[in-house]
Amino acid sequence: MADQTITSVSREHRKFRPSAEFKAQANLGSDAAYKRLYAESVNSPEKFWDRQAKEHLVWRKPYKKVLDWNPPHAKWFLGGKLNVSENCLDRHLGTHRENKAALIFEGEPGDVRTITYKQLHFHVCRLAHIFENMGVGAGDRVAIYLPMIPEAVIAMLACARVGAIHTVIFGGFSAEAIKDRINDCKAKLVITADGGWRRGKVIELKANVDKAVENTPTVQTVIVVKRCGNTVNMREGRDVWWKEAWDGAPNSHKAKAFDSEHPLFILYTSGSTGKPKGVLHTSAGYLLGAKLSSHYVFDLKETDRYFCSADIGWITGHSYVVYGLLSNGSTVFIYEGAPNQPEPDRFWQMIDRHGLTILYTAPTAIRAFMRWGDNYVLRHRLDSLRLLGSVGEPINPEAWMWYHTMIGKKRCPIVDTWWQTETGSIMISPLPGVTATTPGSGTRPFFGVVAKVVDDKCNEVPRNTGGKLVIMQPWPSMLRTLWGDDERYQRQYFSEFPGKPGVYFTGDGARQDKDGYFWIVGRIDDVLNVSGHRIGTAEIESALVSHPAVAEAAAVGRPDELKGQSLCVFVTLKQGQVASDELKEQLRAHVGKEIGSLAKPDTIRFAAGLPKTRSGKIMRRILKEIAAGGEVKGDTTTLEDFSVVAALQAED
Ligand code: PRX
Repeated sequence: MADQTITSVSREHRKFRPSAEFKAQANLGSDAAYKRLYAESVNSPEKFWDRQAKEHLVWRKPYKKVLDWNPPHAKWFLGGKLNVSENCLDRHLGTHRENKAALIFEGEPGDVRTITYKQLHFHVCRLAHIFENMGVGAGDRVAIYLPMIPEAVIAMLACARVGAIHTVIFGGFSAEAIKDRINDCKAKLVITADGGWRRGKVIELKANVDKAVENTPTVQTVIVVKRCGNTVNMREGRDVWWKEAWDGAPNSHKAKAFDSEHPLFILYTSGSTGKPKGVLHTSAGYLLGAKLSSHYVFDLKETDRYFCSADIGWITGHSYVVYGLLSNGSTVFIYEGAPNQPEPDRFWQMIDRHGLTILYTAPTAIRAFMRWGDNYVLRHRLDSLRLLGSVGEPINPEAWMWYHTMIGKKRCPIVDTWWQTETGSIMISPLPGVTATTPGSGTRPFFGVVAKVVDDKCNEVPRNTGGKLVIMQPWPSMLRTLWGDDERYQRQYFSEFPGKPGVYFTGDGARQDKDGYFWIVGRIDDVLNVSGHRIGTAEIESALVSHPAVAEAAAVGRPDELKGQSLCVFVTLKQGQVASDELKEQLRAHVGKEIGSLAKPDTIRFAAGLPKTRSGKIMRRILKEIAAGGEVKGDTTTLEDFSVVAALQAED
């Protein structure tokens, strides 16, 4: 936004170097090796990625060309064929990994299931048959709305196996949001569960799907996993129980090979307009990015038991629960429920119980653990941990230091990984055996990533100056387009700098320090980051104005100790409507219904008018300052009516 400047105030200097022990066992242990590989990856990307693709992926048919870059469209590994599920499963069969745990699952009530690679393969093959019998195959869209249970992983891999495109919808989204996503991609099949456990209660997933599919003409079948045993309606001819579909399906399945650029999944994410964007990822490049980054950033070893707390409904669950980890043959631990159920030490209990070695979580969770108190941590040994990761939002140095001392016992390197739904895999991160870390910095780019901090003309800014974070060259796991809206894809990501059609704009502000380390400041478009989840202000606003009492709404973020940002909305009411606490509650519930509880505003303020420019644009910068309780600074000469601001401040 033009009326915003990017300021970066953090001046953190502490450095934490990897220990000699960690370095000695690391997948990459020397800075010289990182520099050599990185230089090759950006100077001769085709040579570098050719070698990685041959080494890391199982091909059915070799590709002919590594990259075709016709900005802003990239195609990787042209002419090649592979099957992504085969790359995650079949490749491990007949090796020492066959009977190794692929998934260890713990449900919120405490039930545990371990699924080996052989068993996971068997489940995925069966479901692939079921899909094919239902007429779901290559290119068909399948919506997955499940709790964090093994069936979610099985469903994703079964889609990949038959070439269907999955779109996973986070369990916190409402019926309305499910409907919009299904209609946008025209899904044929929905996979859900009767319910999922969250804080001891059942989240009624099937009931939400029922409401959604009343208005989704393309959905033919709904497969329902029985998880909680709650009563659900099963519509004859449309709904089938997973278990019933299961019985009698054959257990082996010969996977077909698909083109490198065959679509793998669509994942909806928030942008700066009211309509979520269907980010499209394809097969070979995405998988390679996820696999290679998992190997180096998490320093994966055969004996690791890796725990990522992200839900499967987010990109982190896609890349760093499913594709990146299983293609590496790792053991992945997944947990269904809330981190404070039954008590705030659930994670630490599970780490000790299962001997987990790597924890990848979000700063918002770390801040919640800090608030719940050290005693919950100190009850547990945590001596199996060897590496910690952070993702989703900037981590404040205080939370970083707590993570380092309380959880990592000063022994575990921390990888603060910057990336996005659109990038598919980690772009900026320390390598744990190489990089000296500094609390709050994602440090250096990963292989193949040419990241720069630039001004409005795309000129690199001097060190320690804020600017826009851009990526200068294509990378294999980049999004290919937005589903059904290539024009928006071009406009959103590749049109920031006229005359530079190949420069990807991340939407984030950043700076590089004197050592070249990257510091991400946060979003500079109208997107908020609340508890590590992206929420578009326009989405919230359009949900609010769909309420009959609301005339206009503006949503802004306010710094929040726990959530990173909290959501504050300013609302003007239609004539005759009366502001009340009851109406506030109604509006919160309305946003919950339209989008999901993750988008419910923390603060609602009624206003007589909103500050606007003479051309009628809401001046969010001013609302942000008011929301934060500060003085209104900066230029207000473009403001149409200053009395609106005075009134808003007086109300505070
Ligand atoms: O603003 C950045 C922030 O999260 C955005 C991407 O959100 P999403 O697509 O939902 O993906 C989240 C998981 C990859 C980014 O544009 N972000 C993500 N990781 C970090 C971060 N900000 C600072 N530091 C990070 N490590």
